Amino acid sequence: MNRGFLESLKNSKHLHSSSLFRLNGVNVNFGKVNALKNVNLQIKKGEILFVTGKSGAGKSTLLSLLAGDMRPTSGSALLPSSNVFVSQVFQDLKLFQNRTIEENLWYAFDKKIYKNKNEFQSDLMELSSVLGIRDRLGQKVKDANGGMKQKVGMLRALLSRPDVLLADEPTAALDKESSTKMFDLLNFYNVRKGLTIVWATHNRELVKQFPGEIAHLEGGKLIYSGKACFI
Ligand SMILES: Nc1ncnc2c1ncn2[C@@H]1O[C@H](COP(=O)(O)OP(=O)(O)OP(=O)(O)O)[C@@H](O)[C@H]1O
Ligand SMILES: [Mg+2]
Repeated sequence: MNRGFLESLKNSKHLHSSSLFRLNGVNVNFGKVNALKNVNLQIKKGEILFVTGKSGAGKSTLLSLLAGDMRPTSGSALLPSSNVFVSQVFQDLKLFQNRTIEENLWYAFDKKIYKNKNEFQSDLMELSSVLGIRDRLGQKVKDANGGMKQKVGMLRALLSRPDVLLADEPTAALDKESSTKMFDLLNFYNVRKGLTIVWATHNRELVKQFPGEIAHLEGGKLIYSGKACFI
């Protein structure tokens, strides 16, 4: 096959058609703070991407950008079309403190995606069992510890049956065993349901155990992107 043909294929749009997100030369400034500096990144459908970096590196800013909650100061951010459902687990979780865990989970119920309430209830029970919170469903969120709240935030996002999950430090308050359990659950969704996952964490050690891509930020710059197992 001639080289010119291969080169033209490489540059053709088809090879990139599975990219859900594409950032080109993205800068985000907050006043004098450059939270992201010339970031180029593509995220493909069905990928698991860990966004790593120390506190202040720009992880949450990157996730907000992918969620469409903010626009780049300069550069371009191509986001998925509106028929792709993106669900977020925020760093501060945004749970209703005065409501029970179960009531919080029910906020994910949508008549358009579940046949009926029974179907939702059955998913809710199954997922709660997997993360070991089934006997805590009646507890008010304000009485739950940080790890429990993170599990609730994650379950609420998964119950909304997203195509893409953007999770900001979803295991910061969890011990190693619970973190691994949560990742195994996400991995199951990735493999079985094609869920695309972007997971921000400062915990590089955790990431090394898992298959997936990694985007490592330092001071707003993307300094490594590639397979997680090579870091
Ligand atoms: N709304 C804002 N206004 C001003 N500065 C901001 C704002 N959001 C973020 N920053 C600054 O941008 C930089 C990147 O912040 P960001 O929250 O993205 O980091 P992070 O990697 O998520 O950190 P952490 O691990 O602590 O969550 C930091 O210097 C932060 O102080
Ligand atoms: Mg953050």
